[in-house]
Amino acid sequence: MKVLVIGSGGREHALCWKIKQSPFVSHVYCAPGNAGISKHAECVDIKDTDIEGFVRFARAEEIYLTVVGPELPLALGIVDRFEKEELRIFGPSKGAAEIESSKVFSKNLMKKYKIPTAFFSTFNDFDDAVRWVKEVKPPLVVKADGLAGGKGAVICKTEEEVFDALDAMIKGKVFGDAGERVIIEEFLEGEEASFIAFTDGETVLPLESSQDHKALLDNDEGPNTGGMGAYSPAPVVTPVVHRKIMEEIMIPTVNALKEEGRKYKGVLYAGVMIKDEEPRVLEFNCRLGDPEAQPLMMRMKSDIVPILNAIVDEKLSGKTIEWRSDASVCVVMASRGYPGDYKKDFEINGLKDVESMEGVIVFHSGTALQNGRYVTSGGRVLGVTALGKTVPDAIDLAYKAVRLIKCESLYYRTDIGRKALKYL
Ligand SMILES: Nc1ncnc2c1ncn2[C@@H]1O[C@H](COP(=O)(O)OP(=O)(O)O)[C@@H](O)[C@H]1O
Ligand SMILES: [Mg+2]
Repeated sequence: MKVLVIGSGGREHALCWKIKQSPFVSHVYCAPGNAGISKHAECVDIKDTDIEGFVRFARAEEIYLTVVGPELPLALGIVDRFEKEELRIFGPSKGAAEIESSKVFSKNLMKKYKIPTAFFSTFNDFDDAVRWVKEVKPPLVVKADGLAGGKGAVICKTEEEVFDALDAMIKGKVFGDAGERVIIEEFLEGEEASFIAFTDGETVLPLESSQDHKALLDNDEGPNTGGMGAYSPAPVVTPVVHRKIMEEIMIPTVNALKEEGRKYKGVLYAGVMIKDEEPRVLEFNCRLGDPEAQPLMMRMKSDIVPILNAIVDEKLSGKTIEWRSDASVCVVMASRGYPGDYKKDFEINGLKDVESMEGVIVFHSGTALQNGRYVTSGGRVLGVTALGKTVPDAIDLAYKAVRLIKCESLYYRTDIGRKALKYL
């Protein structure tokens, strides 16, 4: 069968790499893809917002299965459009994807179905919000309702910080329509983890636990980014926490969405804050995390393709996934300046040396090929991902590989995975 993967980041590289290994798959396309992806898939120049372009391509090439990586095409309704054309596609419908694309929808759903999360209120008026904040008192978190590219959540320690964030979102419209409505919520303490599951709307099949590192600098300092690294498993998700997340969060949420007439098919990702083994939801995403997907795909032993197809066919019940017992760590190498402005087109050397290392794969995000050489072309550039018997082993191997990659403009954190060590 022919498979089309939509997206162009490290997550999509990991998906293409994994899908390509399936004996059921004859050809993998990726749109738009990137230089690294082009080793595992044929890259096609269609932008991730060009829904009609994807429909035409899937028809013309007789694509058996389309897999959507990022949230934007899902929020734009690509799944509804494909289903109308009777084309097979993996991902939630537009209505179901609102669990990510509208934080107001998501918080109200959690409230209605008693799914544990921070207490909150919704505002579209600055003065109303100010009155509420004076009553509840910081620390608080202000969040834009809509998609804001991972920059729409502002943690505020003082009232002034809350007012500044509200001012920027409601009055200044820094996130456009996405910030017209805001959520203000309780600040939760604890340790964060990513809990990612496959679901066909009935059955919930969890992936292994993982954790990402959002902050730019070591020790979680500096501004938030799309993610500077990830590891799996995340020991903060103990068996007790795992059971609670499944019983109190994942299963009730999938049931709630069905109840609301928005049956959810695809990847459901809960960002959870865990304190004293009590998990509470920070947000839901409607797709795999990037960079969590990179270590997860490396650890997945089973063929992913039958699972994806079972979800499309709503036949996930009884399916299982086999995982390697190894841990995996992904260190992101990013352009200096990211998440702000940065320069591009720096040559990347040493990738060949890393290729020959066993247990290491470099997933590409922002790379391009120029005269046969890899150059930087984005904020996050590479995700150097390694397997190891334990998390410390995987950390060592990942950084050994990172040090072989030579590029003057690349920066990386030196403490990816360290949070896991306190549990060992
Ligand atoms: N209520 C909260 N308490 C503490 N930290 C939070 C809270 N909400 C969000 N955060 C932090 O902010 C980050 C981004 O928030 P999130 O809700 O995931 O929005 P988005 O990913 O859309 O930017 C989270 O990963 C978490 O680190
Ligand atoms: Mg998030």
